[in-house]
Parts: sequence; structure tokens; C-alpha cells
Amino acid sequence: MASDADFMARALELAERGRGFVTPNPRVGAVLVQNGAIVAEGWHKVFGGPHAEVECLREAELRRVPVAGGTMYVTLEPCNHFGKTPPCSRTLLESGVARVVVGCLDPNPVAEGGAELLRQGGVAVDVGVLEQQCRDTIADFVVYKTMGRPYVTLKLAMTLDGRIATRTGDASWVSGQASRRCVHRMRAGMQAVMVGGGTLRADDPRLTHRLDASDPLSGNPQPLAVIVTRRLPPADATLTLVRERSPELAILTGLEQADSAAGRALAKRGVRLYGLPDRPDGSLDLAPGLGRLRSEARIYTLLCEGGGGLAGSLAAQGLADELALFYAPKVLADDRAVAGFSGLAVPRMADAAGYRFCDVRRVDEDIFVTARPLPA
Ligand SMILES: NC(=O)c1ccc[n+]([C@@H]2O[C@H](COP(=O)([O-])OP(=O)(O)OC[C@H]3O[C@@H](n4cnc5c(N)ncnc54)[C@H](OP(=O)(O)O)[C@@H]3O)[C@@H](O)[C@H]2O)c1
Repeated sequence: MASDADFMARALELAERGRGFVTPNPRVGAVLVQNGAIVAEGWHKVFGGPHAEVECLREAELRRVPVAGGTMYVTLEPCNHFGKTPPCSRTLLESGVARVVVGCLDPNPVAEGGAELLRQGGVAVDVGVLEQQCRDTIADFVVYKTMGRPYVTLKLAMTLDGRIATRTGDASWVSGQASRRCVHRMRAGMQAVMVGGGTLRADDPRLTHRLDASDPLSGNPQPLAVIVTRRLPPADATLTLVRERSPELAILTGLEQADSAAGRALAKRGVRLYGLPDRPDGSLDLAPGLGRLRSEARIYTLLCEGGGGLAGSLAAQGLADELALFYAPKVLADDRAVAGFSGLAVPRMADAAGYRFCDVRRVDEDIFVTARPLPA
């Protein structure tokens, strides 16, 4: 017989379907169970649209299945406030469900309290089934609600020995075609794509998503391109981003560079320049730059695509919220090949930045690993 965890796992799968469509709302999924079987499903489909529980109740109505006496499994605590939609806690109370199983509580102080309201109304409520997975599903939402900056996903395509390009800078291609298609879907689900100055100069990237028209994400707007560099490109540069996408380009740079003649010439072309302070180790403090992307450019989700210097810097500054790593079955065994993470000097293994694996799957010939930082 299926368990609470099985039903919650299905609700989590449904929540994933909202990826790329619901930002800055959280992804949420729900299933309604009667007599040990799922009779209706729902997920939050689009920003500002009905919540997962409401979608699920609507499906039950369409399919003419009874709701009263059933159990609703929902990945996130039903909301308890009037936002763009009425509170789901009351809708559930009125629906007659006998039990509500919640994956994780709502971290948003405005919306919390749904579980308590349901209990007071006589509904049995259990909280914490597949809690960590449910929290991971809303990790982006938690970052932009509580930290005032975008959620940063760091994607790299690496060889088995952790290299992202050869010693000559050749990175075409590390991973296979299916992985590269996944990356375009990731880009299409993000509001910004960021790379370091080394990658800008080596690859002259466009940082756009290019998907078949049949892909539901293909109609999403192109992400803002973000570069981290103190070496500002000239405004008349032949670089594709400056030539073709300057109004959709932001550069995180030093305070001095942002205020230089080169900075002003780029700004004239529509490039956003954010001057950042130095950290004691001489690197740029990236957190204020991310904060300004959030407050001034309304960026909630950002995909960093390397290279190794920027990846190392994000990890060192505690700003890589999620690692999305494609491992290709290749080995370079070349000390001078470009490392996936670089720039630090760490003498003791005990001082390594710690992560936990959240997901591991095959993408054709490659392996795709998702990891998140351990709490500091
Ligand atoms: N396989 C993959 O997934 C992948 C992805 C991306 C890139 N690549 C390859 O990797 C190579 C480039 O990697 P890379 O490690 O050399 O370069 P990178 O990480 O792209 O850029 C490093 C540069 O970024 C700037 N930067 C980053 N963080 C900074 C901070 N906190 N403060 C100040 N500046 C900061 C600096 O720029 P300035 O020196 O300009 O000031 C630094 O030199 C290329 O060959 C590219 O093709 C592979």
C-alpha cells in the first residue's frame, strides 16, 4: 500500500512542473487521496494563478470525485492570507477534507498559520513528510524572501577530474548534446545568466536560451546577461554581448571602474554597471551586486555558468545556493586545464566548503548532480 511519503513524492513531482513559470512564487504540488488512491492532482502553474490545492480541488470537481473525507497532500503549508488569491487554508476547511499532510511549513511570515487554522477547524494535520525535499523545492523562494538577493544556481560542465576547459581554453564541448539542451531549458527558466570575465573573453557568449518552438519554455523572455569583471570591455567592442545585447547586459565591477570613462561609455549604450566594494582578500564583494540585481533589475533567479574563477568566488562568499554539475565521462589529467572551481588556498580538508547531494541522474552519456551547501 502506498505511504504518505509516496503521495508526497508525487506532489513534489507536480511542483516541479511550475519551474520557470511561477517565479517569484514558490513551486508547490498537491494530490487528493481517497481510499488509498490518488483521485486528483494540482500544482501552482503560473505566477499569480491559483495555488496547487485549489488546482487539485478543481480537478476533483471536474472529475466528479468526492473531496469530503479525503486526504490532501501538499508540499508547502496552505497559505493563510489574502494575496493574489484567497487563503487556501479556508478553502480546504470548506472543502471537507478530513486530513491534510504538509511537506514543510511556510517560511513567509505573512502567509504562515494555515496548518494551525486547519487544526482549529477539526482537520487532522501532519507536517514534515519528505520535509527536506519539500524545503529544497522552495529554497529559491526562501532566498529571495529572506536575503534580498536572487537565488544563485551554479552550473558547470566538467570532466571526471573536475576540469571545465583544456589548457588552451577549449570548452567545446565538455558535455553531450542532451546536457546542453538541459542547460538551454535552465536558462529559459531563469531571469539572469552570469559568467566571469575569463569566460567573456574566451567564449564571447550570447547567454541566451535557444529552444525549439515546441518547448513550453521557448516563449520565456531572454535572461539578463551578467558579467563579473574589473576589465571593462570597450563600448565599441566586437564582443557579442556589448554589440548586440547592451540594454540586456549588467556588469558587476569595481567602484573605480564603474565610475571610469570606459564605464560611462558602456552606460551610454544601456549597459547597467554596478560598482562593488573590495573584500579584505582583494576580490569584489559579490553580495551587494546580487542585491542590486534583485532590487534594481527585479532578478529573482540567476544561473551562473562559470568559469572556475567565478565559481570559486561564489562558493567562497557563500553565494552558490545550488550546484548543478554535468559530469562528462572524460579525463584530461592536465594540471593546466581550467579547474571547475579555483582561486582559493585551502590547506586542510576539514576547511573544504561542504555540500549535500540532492539528486543524481543520467543525461544520456553524462551524469547530472544537484547539490546544496551544508549550513555554515
Ligand atoms: N565547461 C563549462 O561549464 C564552462 C563554463 C564557463 C567557462 N568555461 C571555460 O572556462 C574558462 C574560463 O574560466 P576562468 O576560471 O578562467 O574564468 P572566469 O571564472 O570566467 O572568470 C574569472 C574572472 O572573473 C572575474 N571575477 C570573478 N569573481 C570575481 C570577484 N569576486 N572579484 C573580482 N573579479 C572576479 C575576474 O575578472 P577580470 O579578470 O576580468 O577582472 C576573474 O579574472 C574558459 O576557457 C571557458 O571556456 C567552461
